[in-house]
Amino acid sequence: MASSHGWERNISRAPGEDLLPIRGHLLRLDREALYSRFGNVVTNEFLIQYIERAPELDTIIFGCWVNGKVRGIGELRRFALGQGNDAEAAFTVESAFRDLGIGTALTAAVANEAWRIDVRDVYLCFGVRNQRMRRIAQKFHAAVSFDERDCTARLSIKDERARETRSLAWLAKSILPLERSA
Ligand SMILES: CC(C)(COP(=O)(O)OP(=O)(O)OC[C@H]1O[C@@H](n2cnc3c(N)ncnc32)[C@H](O)[C@@H]1OP(=O)(O)O)[C@@H](O)C(=O)NCCC(=O)NCCS
Repeated sequence: MASSHGWERNISRAPGEDLLPIRGHLLRLDREALYSRFGNVVTNEFLIQYIERAPELDTIIFGCWVNGKVRGIGELRRFALGQGNDAEAAFTVESAFRDLGIGTALTAAVANEAWRIDVRDVYLCFGVRNQRMRRIAQKFHAAVSFDERDCTARLSIKDERARETRSLAWLAKSILPLERSA
């Protein structure tokens, strides 16, 4: 099973009316992380507006709480607003909290949610040199395609071969709802 080191217990879905902790996380990210996430240089103003627009775009956001602060998030958004079987997902974890399993646990939470809302395929896009995302995609048995710059990983949520993904996702579901701090 893909190891998430028990971080599922720290993950909860962010309520649309209280996205300040999520905004705080995004504003703490360094330039490199923001570039990897958004594929561009972004300003604080952009991030503030981005989070403000999340509810109207039906973005589902999971946050990983560590000692009262959100240190990593996973976002899930259908390509077609409110319909369609395909969605995109994206992840960020603050640099001091990487390689601890948080990104893996957030991916499990997002996969579980995709399963719950009947999304069939979840697409992740990241740079070809993004070894951490490549490793996470591998753990979740994603089909990865790439060109010279970008990777696209497709998580087939209902695919039998993705059993491992689903079992970890089920674990996340079985523990939710969760405490805000640990
Ligand atoms: C990608 C990201 C979310 C991963 O978060 P994370 O909490 O570090 O992820 P995890 O700890 O669950 O998993 C990272 C895996 O990569 C592995 N890894 C780290 N550096 C690596 C390297 N150079 N080569 C190969 N694997 C590497 C870790 O060992 C771990 O695998 P393991 O669990 O088998 O040991 C985080 O690095 C991040 O926020 N990056 C910037 C934003 C970004 O790139 N987002 C992706 C856009 S979708």
